[in-house]
Amino acid sequence: MLHVKNLVVQVEEKQVLNGVSMTFEQGKNYCILGKNGSGKSSLAMTLMWHPSYEATKGTVSLDDEDLLEMEPDERAKLWIFLAFQSIPEVKGVKLFEFLRTIYNSRWEKKESFVSFKRIILPHLEELGIDKEFLWRDLNVGFSGGERRKIEILQVKILEPKYIILDEVDSGLDVDAFRSVAGLLKELDSPENSFIIITHYFTILEYLKVDEVMVLQDGLIVQQWGKEIADTIQENWFGE
Ligand SMILES: Nc1ncnc2c1ncn2[C@@H]1O[C@H](COP(=O)(O)OP(=O)(O)O)[C@@H](O)[C@H]1O
Ligand SMILES: [Mg+2]
Repeated sequence: MLHVKNLVVQVEEKQVLNGVSMTFEQGKNYCILGKNGSGKSSLAMTLMWHPSYEATKGTVSLDDEDLLEMEPDERAKLWIFLAFQSIPEVKGVKLFEFLRTIYNSRWEKKESFVSFKRIILPHLEELGIDKEFLWRDLNVGFSGGERRKIEILQVKILEPKYIILDEVDSGLDVDAFRSVAGLLKELDSPENSFIIITHYFTILEYLKVDEVMVLQDGLIVQQWGKEIADTIQENWFGE
């Protein structure tokens, strides 16, 4: 279970979260709604320990371990994955080496060039990613859809328990969005939890959620359980 309790977060001397509490149970999916500037990405960044986001009060714990006290290398082994609102390009780092490094760190392995190639190629094929991408710099010149697929590839090899999607629809055209949403749906399982941050409901057509929370000015102002979440989904998509 991922527990956020009374979390207050500051960035550049501005308080962006003002005492947020939420509980994420493994296997359930969640949706966090909120207007631009309400603090959604700040919450995601804090859960991923972005250095600019400082938790000044409150706690974040995963299965009773205090996340905020952990060292970066311990955190890397944790099972939280963030799909960024805007995915950064990393010059000078080949996709293949990036994937091999995170895989070895996550599973405490020492896969070689050859053995990791054997692991990664079937995943590329499944996702319809050209293997030439492996030898390109991470995300440099990749389209929005290709970047999202690379993130999905990371989810496949890291098998995180908590997958935070921060406005995954941003930068995607309708077709690319459908393809990405379909792939995400395939990853949904009782072993993982999606935390879907959005202000467009379309992604919820693909991923069913158990709870909806509304963030406003760094505070949770509404919280609905499964019944209301279902009603929202039904009314929106007419299922
Ligand atoms: N790195 C930053 N430096 C300064 N202000 C920031 C930074 N990140 C976020 N903020 C501010 O914090 C508030 C919440 O932003 P954010 O969490 O990105 O909102 P959302 O994702 O809901 O649109 C906004 O007012 C934003 O301008
Ligand atoms: Mg945001």
